[in-house]
Amino acid sequence: MPQPSMHVVILAAGDGTRMLSRLPKVLHTVAGRPMVGHVIEAARRLNPASIVVVVPAEHDRHRSALDGYPVELAVQDPPSGTGDAAQVGLRASGARGDNDLVLVINGDCPGLRSETLEAIAAEQASGDATGAVFLSGLVAHVNGESATSPYGRMVRDTDGTLLRIVEAADCDAEQLAIPEVNGGIYLFVSGVLERALQELRPDNSQGELYLTDTLEVIRNQGGRVGLCRHHDLAEIDGVNTRAELARAEELLRSRKAEELMLAGVTLRDPSSTSVDVDVEVGADTILYPGVVLEAGTSVGEDCVLYPNVRVARSRIGSNVTMYDGTVIEDAVVEDGATLGPYARLRPEAHICEDARVGNFVEIKKSRLGRGSKANHLTYLGDAEIGAGVNIGAGTITCNYDGANKHTTVLEDGVFVGSNTAIVAPVRVGRGATIGAGSTITKDVPADGLAVARSRQVIKEDWTSKHSPKAKKAREAD
Ligand code: UD1
Ligand code: CA
Repeated sequence: MPQPSMHVVILAAGDGTRMLSRLPKVLHTVAGRPMVGHVIEAARRLNPASIVVVVPAEHDRHRSALDGYPVELAVQDPPSGTGDAAQVGLRASGARGDNDLVLVINGDCPGLRSETLEAIAAEQASGDATGAVFLSGLVAHVNGESATSPYGRMVRDTDGTLLRIVEAADCDAEQLAIPEVNGGIYLFVSGVLERALQELRPDNSQGELYLTDTLEVIRNQGGRVGLCRHHDLAEIDGVNTRAELARAEELLRSRKAEELMLAGVTLRDPSSTSVDVDVEVGADTILYPGVVLEAGTSVGEDCVLYPNVRVARSRIGSNVTMYDGTVIEDAVVEDGATLGPYARLRPEAHICEDARVGNFVEIKKSRLGRGSKANHLTYLGDAEIGAGVNIGAGTITCNYDGANKHTTVLEDGVFVGSNTAIVAPVRVGRGATIGAGSTITKDVPADGLAVARSRQVIKEDWTSKHSPKAKKAREAD
């Protein structure tokens, strides 16, 4: 017999009403990635023949969120239960007959690991389960938790034979107390699933077709259903509410923290450090409490990120120090640079090697050359700044005239005195000096000095003789 080929169907068309959100449930991000993206990544590692994601009729946002994932979308309209969704997915998947396998996964379990899917596949391959393998877990029996859990209950007869799954909403009190629950991940023989789905009826409290009812149908049709028991329910926890979303976030965040620490990164306080899954951090880098590294970011080796630094979608080199409160979005920082405290890099800021960006400095769409310094209270926008440039405190590039943006060029070795306004477009030549307090409106030649401020006026003995205070004192005499 040829090797069975495995097709994956991910159910992601539900309304997610319990989230009370305008955003579809499965698109809420967990550790920087949409929920359903985590499920896709776990499934991908099994090298399936195809991955189909079942989405609702209105799925523009699903399409854009899943752009770049190697999946096909299949539309379920209207969403009328997981059984119906599986049917839509099965049809689109290309799985056929009694040789192909179909792995059906709820799209709302972002903690799912590929190891769990492999365990299910291994159970199927062992040959006992001729129809399907279901995944189950045990809910803790503390504080009546099992009675309030939203999972479907695995109902057995007195000799322990698995009979059917009863959804929480359809359970009586005795069934609600059953701690063994359905994990929402199933591996079916394609033909068996196809035949079982035809028998489903919406005779339940939701009036929906339940995929879970296939267990009983398959048994009645003479197929055997195997069970893969999972020891860690948290991993397969379905996210239905914001509270469960926060729980998933905590799980994935601590998993990522663990992975980083094993790779040689120091986290001073893992519980208050948030690193998205799609982030890389090099060895011997130290992350202080409150550091947030968002998806699409990489940080090199030997960096120190002090408290409350946030970096999103940016590339940070090695030996970079970021002092407290620094915020970086869509920027590049090269090796050896120092930033902050309270520096802000906006999109397309590029900080070259060994450059320094100090407190309350904002940089947008500008390149700060090698070893250059902007140490205090400065705005640099649309600027091309060479190497070894010194930018004094309070320097502002006036890059916007109300209609257009203009460029400032400061060539290598320029010295800009404090409190200078540079009205772009302007070019300051190599090695030129700008006097403090200048408003620069014209190009400055290389090696020149530009001073653009009013001259100082001195009036001798003015305070004691001519000031209003002095006059008042004279009148009172
Ligand atoms: C489901 C199971 C339950 C199991 C639990 C595990 C059923 C009937 N129940 O319950 O036994 O313990 O998962 O987490 O399957 N979806 C569609 N189309 C639909 C309805 C749902 O694509 O018409 C998708 C949802 O987007 C979601 C997934 O299917 O990703 C599961 O649906 P959900 O409503 O969350 O099922 P649960 O009530 O959690
Ligand atoms: Ca769910």
